[in-house]
Amino acid sequence: MNNSPFRSVLFVCLGNICRSPLAEGVFRSVLAAEGKGDGIRIDSAGTNGYHTGEAPDERSIAVAGRYGIDISNQCCRQLTLEDFTRFDLIVGMDRANVAAIETRRPANATAQTGLLYEIALGELKQIPDPYYGTNVDFERVYRMILAASKGLSKRF
Ligand code: 4NP
Repeated sequence: MNNSPFRSVLFVCLGNICRSPLAEGVFRSVLAAEGKGDGIRIDSAGTNGYHTGEAPDERSIAVAGRYGIDISNQCCRQLTLEDFTRFDLIVGMDRANVAAIETRRPANATAQTGLLYEIALGELKQIPDPYYGTNVDFERVYRMILAASKGLSKRF
């Protein structure tokens, strides 16, 4: 296994409006707090394109804001083939996301891909889709993403 540090990461969920924008913002803030953010590329994308061009879900913006993180300027986009060579690491929030990432993987891909929790913490946990949930679900997603981000930062 290649243990050289990652320099870029793309967080991927289904819609790129709830979980992955939060992961992008939280991970950026964790790396910055550790003084490791310079020169690191952090982005997020969705496996579907239903919300392309939109800002994150207001409940994700709100939970991030409660912890001092502003994700309101992010803009939803879909996963592209170029992402597989632009990023060292592409991580899905749940197993369906990982399967959709793998389905799209081009022959020239260089990115490592996998489940966020497995790569960050060695745990087979999935971050549940909160879209049809409540603020409590968004709070839980935030806490899971924070824990994963602290684990993932050790690989950067
Ligand atoms: P996300 O949540 O994958 O965490 O961004 C979802 C957002 C939108 C939809 C599904 C999940 N949707 O079906 O529109």
